[in-house]
Amino acid sequence: MKILFVCLGNICRSPAAEGVMKKIVEEAGFSNEIICASAGTAGYHSGEAPDHRMIKHALRRNISLTSRARQFKPAKDFDEFDLILAMDKSNFQNIQAVHPQPANLRDQVFLITDFCKRLDVSEVPDPYYKGPEDFELVLDILEDACSGLLQKITSER
Ligand code: 4NP
Repeated sequence: MKILFVCLGNICRSPAAEGVMKKIVEEAGFSNEIICASAGTAGYHSGEAPDHRMIKHALRRNISLTSRARQFKPAKDFDEFDLILAMDKSNFQNIQAVHPQPANLRDQVFLITDFCKRLDVSEVPDPYYKGPEDFELVLDILEDACSGLLQKITSER
């Protein structure tokens, strides 16, 4: 099972989602079976490490972010990944717009907040021009969503 987390720049939210999910997957003993990666719908940060603020806030929760930004590649990513999880509605629409088989979209592309169990949110808000508490909120939402996601995946096996 391969999961791709997608945001706009691939330096804040989706690297954090990748890191959160990797940690949860590892703790549950599924590292060999569930592979996580991330990408951005925009390419303007390609090659960059995650934003230093996102790295700092994640580290406080013992989550290390090691990805390098890359742009979402429709020709390859729809084939390679079983699940594609968008951080917000704009990311979701951008992915949806380039899906080669719209009929299969419903089983492959989701909003990550669809898997939240505790928090009543419909998107992971972009923290880029915001403050420390907004980076914390991103991690709160992602921890909730990723544990709900793992529950869903393991319950369907
Ligand atoms: P991300 O955040 O989509 O969560 O990686 C952003 C990063 C960079 C920009 C916007 C959002 N930017 O405009 O450069």
